[in-house]
Amino acid sequence: MLAKLEQIFQKRQYTNHGPLYTELNQLLESRSSLHHAYVSNGTISLQLLLKSLGCSGEVVTTPFSYVATTNAILWEGGTPVFADVDPKTCNADPEAVERAIGPNTKGLLLTHVYGIPCDVEALEKIAERHGIWLVFDAAHAFDVKFKGRSLYSYGTAASASYHATKIFHTVEGGGVYSKDQELMRAVRQGMNFGHTSPETFDRPGINAKNSEFHAAMGLCILPHMPDIIARRKALSECYDAQIPKGLSRPILPEETEYNYAYYPVFFQNQDALLQTKAALEQAGIGTRRYFYPSLNTLPYLSETQACPVSEELSSRVLCLPLYPDLSVLEQEYILDHLHRNFTE
Ligand SMILES: Cc1ncc(COP(=O)(O)O)c(C=O)c1O
Repeated sequence: MLAKLEQIFQKRQYTNHGPLYTELNQLLESRSSLHHAYVSNGTISLQLLLKSLGCSGEVVTTPFSYVATTNAILWEGGTPVFADVDPKTCNADPEAVERAIGPNTKGLLLTHVYGIPCDVEALEKIAERHGIWLVFDAAHAFDVKFKGRSLYSYGTAASASYHATKIFHTVEGGGVYSKDQELMRAVRQGMNFGHTSPETFDRPGINAKNSEFHAAMGLCILPHMPDIIARRKALSECYDAQIPKGLSRPILPEETEYNYAYYPVFFQNQDALLQTKAALEQAGIGTRRYFYPSLNTLPYLSETQACPVSEELSSRVLCLPLYPDLSVLEQEYILDHLHRNFTE
């Protein structure tokens, strides 16, 4: 990292598509075999996509995601319509998605939650049948493959997050992935104030560029991704073998090459979750109610929409600590406290 920082200070180009930005962008393109626009975070990448594709109308979306998914729709002037999720994967149920589509639907914005692939083939068929766009919020899906293809390659486009909490990160950062050159042209202009040349503009763009410093961080981490994922896999398998039997887990579709981004567990009910979470906190173990609340219950939505499956799942899901530096001893400590404080 220090060598890269030196490079930046020698060149004295700190942002505006400098050499490190360009190198990282090209690497992310070649490893996905897609066009990629490296931007300043994963929320603005959602917004750039929604803006470019048009969302003034309804956007069918998932209630089981981080709040950024719904907020991006609202921020871009769209109306979120929630499709309930499949309890096995926590991802939007294609049948519920199809039922939620109406005459004002502009597109679908669905999350591969925890990096677990949505039913991409069914959803692509639905989008095609209705003549609408399909964007995946792939914030958690770095290096996930489904049927041998990057998960980013499904649908019209995908939005990635490279935030410091993600498995690959550039401190803050995000990415738009697509095969569609026209769409990428709109995104690239949109992320750079709408410039088409130094003195011409063809749309009201925004500043979503990212800096050389952020790109340097990404370039340092990228070569280590196979080791990072292998370590996460080993830790996840250790949890699988040792968590209390009464906890359940989402199910990964077949033919998925997973990235082990999170380790969510489901308690029998919210009371059991809250009791265990508090006891773990007492022991210095940080956990997160990821994802809670169910987004259809956000207080600023204009109307209430029921999604009983998502509401029920989000009330009893907890993510256990999972990061490559977690030591064997620390994981044993977590498992010990989990067992001590878990009641069937
Ligand atoms: C599903 C999902 N979408 C979007 C985002 C937003 O990404 P960022 O923090 O890079 O803006 C997040 C961040 O946690 C997320 O989990």
